[in-house]
Amino acid sequence: MTHKLVLLPGDGIGPEVMAEVRKIIDWLSQNTQTDFDITEDDIGGAAYDRYGVPLDEGTLEKCRAADAVIMGAVGGPKWDHVDYTLRPEAGLLKLRKELDLFANLRPALVFDALIDASTLKPDIIRGLDIMIVRELTGGVYFGEPRGIEDLGNGERRGFNTQVYTTKEIRRIGRVAFELARKRGNKVCSAEKANVMESGKLWREEITKLHEEDYQDVMLTHMYADNCAMQLLRNPRQFDVIVTDNLFGDILSDEASMLTGSLGMLPSAALGAKKGQGLYEPVHGSAPDIAGQGKANPLATILSFSMALRYSLDEAALADHIEQAVQTVLNQGLRTADIMEQGCIELSTDAMGNALVKKLAEAISVV
Ligand code: IPM
Ligand code: MG
Repeated sequence: MTHKLVLLPGDGIGPEVMAEVRKIIDWLSQNTQTDFDITEDDIGGAAYDRYGVPLDEGTLEKCRAADAVIMGAVGGPKWDHVDYTLRPEAGLLKLRKELDLFANLRPALVFDALIDASTLKPDIIRGLDIMIVRELTGGVYFGEPRGIEDLGNGERRGFNTQVYTTKEIRRIGRVAFELARKRGNKVCSAEKANVMESGKLWREEITKLHEEDYQDVMLTHMYADNCAMQLLRNPRQFDVIVTDNLFGDILSDEASMLTGSLGMLPSAALGAKKGQGLYEPVHGSAPDIAGQGKANPLATILSFSMALRYSLDEAALADHIEQAVQTVLNQGLRTADIMEQGCIELSTDAMGNALVKKLAEAISVV
């Protein structure tokens, strides 16, 4: 079986963490029946430097033809001066939009070994397992009109449009309800129906969809600000949280810190086309630590594992990788972001090596 993957390391720590994914892919290619056909290309600032745009058409075509795309991270101060439409982030948004990857799955899972790495009390987060389902191709990120206009009197006006249609809300709602059925069977829908029409519509459509097709799932609604507060107060009340693009961006960063580090969280962006997906860590390009071997590669490795599960139909391999991550953590091996007293601090590269070693021990070599 050969899986066609496109790897987009991107900027900052992206290339470093992707190198560790590459090690795992190479090991799997050499030692199991599963083969990978790998193409690497640039995205974000790296693509801007090479092609003059943050996502080249050729790259996009390769991504369209792939079974899965794994991305590192985009952005950095080097491109702060670049026109808005050509910024590194614009490349990622274009990729999500062009592939119609509307459903962003962001799991926040607390590993027992990392319970003390969280800033929250162990009792609050032990056993935490939340899935944030973020709408990814609509809302204020893409709404028109948008822009900055000159009002002529020395004043300017910046504006964006928050917009959702019935269809967009229903399709992301379905993803959330379906996922909930395979987990804790609870969905909490978060919006600001109290102040925004788009939020009111969101609540109405989710309620309707629930009544029509998902009455077996427990549905609650929360204003997004309350949801942010409840995530800190009592995070284990949540199973699946479904929310829009902007609130999902914010709530997923918050949820990630419950687990101890942004460096641990993977994500999957799935679309209408069955199997196609973009997998990326929730963390950013962290330019402040780039090139120093300090980055935690586990979020990107776990993103690859999500690709095995959701796009490549290789759940057994995904289980092995997730198990290897657990083992490495249980043995006290840590990168700087999750370092604790009594543990051993590893560089990005050494963490990748440790993981490959565990994987090799777990998978019987064919
Ligand atoms: C994320 C990031 C992106 C977003 C940026 C880099 C465009 O913060 O994936 O959460 O806002 O969606
Ligand atoms: Mg974000």
